[in-house]
Amino acid sequence: MGKSRIFLITLVLLVSTVVVLGDPLVPALIIFGDSVVDVGNNNNRVTLVKANFPPYGRDFVTHRPSGRFCNGKLATDFTAEYLGFSSYPPAYLSQEARGKNLLTGANFASAASGYYTGTAQLYGAIPLTQQLSYYREYQSKVVNIVGKAKANAIFSGAIHVLSAGSSDFIQNYYINPILNRVYSPDQFSDILLRSYATFIQNLYEMGARRIGVTSLPPTGCLPASITLFGAGNNQCVERLNRDAVLFNNKLNTTSQTLRNLPGLKLVVFDIYQPLLDMITRPTDNGFFESRRACCGTGTIETSLLCNSRSIGTCSNATQYVFWDGFHPSEAANEVLAGYLLQQGIDLIS
Ligand SMILES: *[C@@H]1O[C@H](CO)[C@@H](O)[C@H](O)[C@H]1NC(C)=O
Ligand SMILES: *[C@@H]1O[C@H](CO)[C@@H](O)[C@H](O)[C@H]1NC(C)=O
Repeated sequence: MGKSRIFLITLVLLVSTVVVLGDPLVPALIIFGDSVVDVGNNNNRVTLVKANFPPYGRDFVTHRPSGRFCNGKLATDFTAEYLGFSSYPPAYLSQEARGKNLLTGANFASAASGYYTGTAQLYGAIPLTQQLSYYREYQSKVVNIVGKAKANAIFSGAIHVLSAGSSDFIQNYYINPILNRVYSPDQFSDILLRSYATFIQNLYEMGARRIGVTSLPPTGCLPASITLFGAGNNQCVERLNRDAVLFNNKLNTTSQTLRNLPGLKLVVFDIYQPLLDMITRPTDNGFFESRRACCGTGTIETSLLCNSRSIGTCSNATQYVFWDGFHPSEAANEVLAGYLLQQGIDLIS
């Protein structure tokens, strides 16, 4: 086990000793974005981008698929646990999202969504603008339950997490000549970041004061990216990683400007470096496989292609960095969640 992992586990233990289960550090956890954080909003939509069938969910608490693009928990599920919540924020479009369940948060994320509205439209996912409309509707439900003053305290105290951008690049820009012939990666990043800035401003106007946004991962190292864009080389696609770093730098700069909004705590969670470390030095981090994903051949399968008939699915994903062609395993998510906690301390203080 690497030193950094030991440090993170210690940090998690320290935080969890001050947290009493069911008495969380913040009133609620609100989640927006894409498949990295979706817990089932796509299940009942007309879209091919779903994960509500086996083997998804086989290592989850319920050992059943939920719509999470993972064998088990997402990084944000671990975050909910570390913060002391006794349940995960429910998918807003699910049956569980009603009554008192809403008071500790909700999840509005939708796989294949992103900063660029066209990405969500391409796949029948919920665009970020629509996720915000659902959040507005959610807020009025909470006001009806606890009254305006208490509701406002929930919204301003809640941690809001946003994960987006990967689908905009991988499932849209790189395969869509209408975008990649017209915009350079630099220009496309600027378009995404204008949408990001608007999203944060709108969220702020709705009362959010604690917001964390994830950076792009090393998109060129996702197993499916290597297969699709690697030109036969069995290595991370440098061009894609360069674009991700460029985007992440701009995300930092844009966030710096947004921090001028009075009372706003805005943190950028860097998942690029931790994931790259797991991929390039798997054994240091307790993994043995970082090139091949667990599901199927591990080179491409995600969503419908990762199913109970996929041939080659590994029997135990705990030492795989990737569960499917695009998404980290539960074990990798646990490591990432440690970094989120470390980088997000400002949001709970
Ligand atoms: C963004 O800024 C943080 C510090 O605020 C730094 O740790 C991180 O490496 C930066 N990311 C990029 C991509 O520059
Ligand atoms: C998977 O392997 C780990 C050790 O690497 C072990 O602790 C765990 O119990 C195994 N899980 C299953 C489902 O076999």
